[in-house]
Amino acid sequence: MAVVNFLPKQYEKDKKHTINHNYLQQQFSDCDAILKKIKQVVIEGDFTLGSAVDAFEDRFKKITQTKYAIGVGNGTDALFLSLKALGVNEGDEVITTPFTFYSTVGAIVTAGGKPVFVDIGDDYNIDANKIEEKITKRTKVILPVHWAGKPCAMDKIRGIAKSYGLYIVEDACHAIQATYDGQPAGNLGDIGCFSFHPLKNLNIWGDGGIITTNSDTLAEALRLLRNHGLKERDECVRFAYNSRLDTIQAVVADHLLNKIDYITQSRISNVEYLDKHLKKFSQITIPHREPHIKQVYHLYSIRCEKRDALKAFLNENGIDAKIHYPVPIHLQPAAKYLGYKRGDFPNCEQIAAQTLSLPVHEFISQKDLDVMVESISNFYV
Ligand SMILES: Cc1ncc(COP(=O)(O)O)c(C=O)c1O
Repeated sequence: MAVVNFLPKQYEKDKKHTINHNYLQQQFSDCDAILKKIKQVVIEGDFTLGSAVDAFEDRFKKITQTKYAIGVGNGTDALFLSLKALGVNEGDEVITTPFTFYSTVGAIVTAGGKPVFVDIGDDYNIDANKIEEKITKRTKVILPVHWAGKPCAMDKIRGIAKSYGLYIVEDACHAIQATYDGQPAGNLGDIGCFSFHPLKNLNIWGDGGIITTNSDTLAEALRLLRNHGLKERDECVRFAYNSRLDTIQAVVADHLLNKIDYITQSRISNVEYLDKHLKKFSQITIPHREPHIKQVYHLYSIRCEKRDALKAFLNENGIDAKIHYPVPIHLQPAAKYLGYKRGDFPNCEQIAAQTLSLPVHEFISQKDLDVMVESISNFYV
């Protein structure tokens, strides 16, 4: 079967809803200020690692409170390059979750590593209590995913990494401005990875990502890895990749960074409202919220009885309820060679069968929130 670009059809489908996950048209309805800055890039012609990239990196590292931030082509490359910087090679094992976007595992596999899955807990994150039993002589990295913008149990994970001499690469693609015990995501392990894909909390006009670290040596390796191994224009110190954050995209990211506090706070307020009203339904399970963790709700995912029927009902009523994601990674065709089977990660499989995401971004109004609560109420009566 031919592989086709399925996204144009998806965009059309999404536009039919009135309460949408996709808010890009509103977000960039007034884009003149950005275009003006981009015009300057065009005039100057510094499209590749121009000064806007350095300026954005400097601002981003303040968010993560890390020594370094290194702009790259996208979140997947951020993960891939991080694993490469840590020396992951053929056969090295990387412990992660089967409940993630495909790219977490894609990055491990394309770096030459073997993904080793650990089941998730009720909060959709890797169950830190089950990590140790999966550690072998080949384990090199633990790769926790801060799913939906909730940092994983990093105290426990850091303790395990320390006692076994393992690295931690955080998949913080959902987690800009999230904190664990007050410490920012992206600064909870050896390396943090972020995505600026158009539907992430900080989003740009295409693809982009950033890597954060406090390590001088890792930062140096990552700067080489993203730019052909070049130390200077005519000095290549290692053969490497081409994965740079475009100057134009850095301009967009930098512009939106002015709004990030508002973006995060809106998501948190919307979730607080939905939590308060939806916890009344016995058919809905809301993940436990923990006071020492600041979640940023890239997704608002709850567990629902009769999930598929509820989703269809909400969609018919103009609400873009989505499933992130219905089939866990270990059951995807791409993972067949790893030998996992249904039943291997029961919590993950159960959550995949019940989870439903509702839009909570900064353009969701009070009326939208009320419509969502009322529609759910109408479904369950
Ligand atoms: C958890 C997670 N990790 C990594 C990525 C990869 O980011 P990108 O699309 O920028 O490559 C994504 C999303 O797209 C994601 O959701």
